[in-house]
Amino acid sequence: MVAGLRARWRRRCRVGDGELANWDGGFPEIVEIGGERWVLKDDGPREVLGARLGWGRVNVAAADLMPHGSRPRALVRLAENYRLRDLPIRNLDEAAAAELAFSLWTRRRDTHAFNRAYVDGIPMFFDHSAAFVPEDSVDHFARDGPDNGYVPRWRVEVWGEAATTLALRDRNRVTESAVHAISEPAVFAKHLERWVAELASIPTDWIRATVASCGFEVDDAERVAAMLTRSQGELPRAVELARTALAMPVAASA
Ligand SMILES: Nc1ncnc2c1ncn2[C@@H]1O[C@H](COP(=O)(O)OP(=O)(O)O)[C@@H](O)[C@H]1O
Ligand SMILES: [Mg+2]
Repeated sequence: MVAGLRARWRRRCRVGDGELANWDGGFPEIVEIGGERWVLKDDGPREVLGARLGWGRVNVAAADLMPHGSRPRALVRLAENYRLRDLPIRNLDEAAAAELAFSLWTRRRDTHAFNRAYVDGIPMFFDHSAAFVPEDSVDHFARDGPDNGYVPRWRVEVWGEAATTLALRDRNRVTESAVHAISEPAVFAKHLERWVAELASIPTDWIRATVASCGFEVDDAERVAAMLTRSQGELPRAVELARTALAMPVAASA
């Protein structure tokens, strides 16, 4: 059934197939509900938590739990269906900084370009499948590994033209790095510091309630909430580890 919906959707969709392809050439499962197109993903609680922690703050794609089904899956709204005015952050340097700060907080290791799409040159992100690992220490999170999403492969690059989904994915492939387009390194660095402070100040009660709303088993919810609170305190260390990878300038003091 899903394959049929996907084929129908592809015929009607203005987004080229290439923009929906994953790094390995595979395509996500797509469903259409009430005129809205969504990606269907396993591990619903993780995807929904990423969306609920971020939405309204950073440019993360909205997600919700599947209304039916034996195991919780998630519906993730396609980034290409957003307009610029829907996004909370409409500045390239700030959007990139906020995605990276959010990824450091939630231990979302996979910030590569196949987990991101650009709306009028501004990035949105999705895919929290490599985030929220309760037992992950900050140093283990920052380890190197075999794919482009590991922290030592995060990069920022000054992008001279409007950033596009496919151009960033090409760059990701060529450099084998999770490249983020920015326009002004010093401005980006300031936004990163500011977003780290902003995310570190999110109240524990709100984090716990948000985690509890995402369909985790009770024990898992407690472990994930504890991890998020601990990770807020570890953000300065995480930024230092990422700063080396990003070859990022230290923000000039205001
Ligand atoms: N919300 C979305 N908006 C736009 N494209 C998406 C979205 N979610 C997934 N995709 C596309 O589908 C691909 C696979 O989805 P993703 O969530 O990254 O799954 P996986 O966990 O298998 O990597 C992505 O690389 C991207 O091309
Ligand atoms: Mg992915």
